[in-house]
Amino acid sequence: MSFKKLITWSETSFNELPWRKDRSLYRTWISEVMLQQTTVFTVKTRLDDFCEKFPDITSLAKASEEELLIQWKGLGYYQRAKNLKKAAIYLVENFEGDFPESIEDLMSVPGIGPYTASAIFAIGMNKKSLPVDANLERVLARIYGIDSEKGEKLKKILREKFLKKEILNIKTKNFRGLSEALMDLGREVCQSKRVFCELCQVRAICVAKEWSDPTKTPAVAPKNKIDKRRLPLIRVICEKDEKIYCYRKPKGTWLSGQYELPTFILNESDQQLNQYPLIEDKNLPRLMIKTGITKYKIENYIKRLNPEEMRALGDFELLDIDVAMKKLSSASLKCIKEERKSKPDPV
Ligand code: ADE
Repeated sequence: MSFKKLITWSETSFNELPWRKDRSLYRTWISEVMLQQTTVFTVKTRLDDFCEKFPDITSLAKASEEELLIQWKGLGYYQRAKNLKKAAIYLVENFEGDFPESIEDLMSVPGIGPYTASAIFAIGMNKKSLPVDANLERVLARIYGIDSEKGEKLKKILREKFLKKEILNIKTKNFRGLSEALMDLGREVCQSKRVFCELCQVRAICVAKEWSDPTKTPAVAPKNKIDKRRLPLIRVICEKDEKIYCYRKPKGTWLSGQYELPTFILNESDQQLNQYPLIEDKNLPRLMIKTGITKYKIENYIKRLNPEEMRALGDFELLDIDVAMKKLSSASLKCIKEERKSKPDPV
């Protein structure tokens, strides 16, 4: 009974999420990939635009990498966008541009891993499978009091218990509703650092509700925390006749295919990163914003140059400002916005 109540709660409270309001296997796939590293809050604002630009597997397979990366801008972890295209090409070549119906065939698609295959199966096709993401891992470990560290081993235990009907053994064929409800529970009620047990529809059967601190489950192994390295960069803003100097990042560099402001490293030791040329002028501008990528804390020092000074730094493309605003990376756009904010309004 509890889980039926949970599904009803989820279906009545969160049916406005764009991937639920308008469902297709394609939208389920795209949304699940976006949601793997990006918050519900952000994906909510981005899914429809993406699916308008690339409405199906065939259009995604034909997309240029540049268009795709522009559409993925701000969602982070850009390899996901490249993997979507790879998977789409495979689906066109092997499954007539459609999704195969078995979970094994779904998993055979390059770029579709076990979680995504399971999510397409359960949420997209409403078939029996349990897509165990971090939310499901956490809420199920608490509801059933499973004492195992957070990680792949716990996820495997949960998938096996589900198959053996040791957990979630309920008379429902609503596998979609069940998976989504557990995700909603994890996001809204049974959060990693806070719990609101009084709002929980499954508290009657929950083991952890008796514990003094349910948030300690699942236990998190102490991390080998790798300190992010500091990387100072000079980002140059130079405009000429309603155009702005930019360049397209070449293959083999971060964000390859995306446009950036002309960007330079300050330290010779950073040359091995193979990303940006070195700038001679080591004077740090006062204006700086912080951004980050996986291993680096980036300090973006924003420097305005005139076209003559710019030419001395090398060859760059001139893009119309409105085109550049669409094509530039999020970090470059942030620099432009920050610089605009810092300038006094013209009197
Ligand atoms: N997180 C991952 N998939 C989700 C979904 N379908 N709904 C809400 N949160 C999610």
